[in-house]
Amino acid sequence: MEDLKIEKIKKINLKEIMEIEKKAYPNHHWSEESFENELSNKLATYCCVKNGTKKIIGFYGFWQILEEAHITTFATHPDYRRNGVATYLMLNLIKKCYKKMIKYITLEVRTSNVPAISLYEKFGFSTIGMRKKYYQDNNEDALIMFTENIWYDKFKTNYKKIKEEYNRKIK
Ligand SMILES: CC(C)(COP(=O)(O)OP(=O)(O)OC[C@H]1O[C@@H](n2cnc3c(N)ncnc32)[C@H](O)[C@@H]1OP(=O)(O)O)[C@@H](O)C(=O)NCCC(=O)NCCS
Repeated sequence: MEDLKIEKIKKINLKEIMEIEKKAYPNHHWSEESFENELSNKLATYCCVKNGTKKIIGFYGFWQILEEAHITTFATHPDYRRNGVATYLMLNLIKKCYKKMIKYITLEVRTSNVPAISLYEKFGFSTIGMRKKYYQDNNEDALIMFTENIWYDKFKTNYKKIKEEYNRKIK
């Protein structure tokens, strides 16, 4: 595992982001224009992670709606998976949520998306409901996942544990 850096996504990064986006969501990806519009959304935070050669290998986005963060996108480059990149991104996303005094984090995920569901569960998200036929490309249902209040001890303890494990691995 190498040293990674987080940066805000800028317009200049969108070509590289789109390469990951198309690989991560082959049948239902956002357009470059959608990303560009999102970059000027005042409620939104979009960040990418770069490796040692400054290549973008993952990204996330969320909207802040009062005391909730809604994750709008989250993906890592297929060539760099199972290597802690998503863990690093999620640790950073949660850190940003603490800075913004957010209390809850939520998202929708396809019922078939085992890797993502497992990632979110690892961080303390649980399924609180389902949106039937939410995804128009194949009519798949979405799970609605939520954290508990991220300021509660249980969530914080788990977050710190994952952070410490991650930091140990990169040393
Ligand atoms: C889901 C995704 C972001 C995981 O990225 P990653 O960089 O491989 O994840 P990490 O290596 O940091 O793994 C973190 C955790 O995710 C889960 N995970 C990742 N890949 C998994 C897989 N293939 N099977 C089961 N669990 C998996 C595990 O819980 C893992 O923790 P562990 O290493 O302690 O077992 C990546 O597979 C992806 O971009 N998928 C396509 C886009 C997508 O589905 N995004 C989510 C939309 S809601």
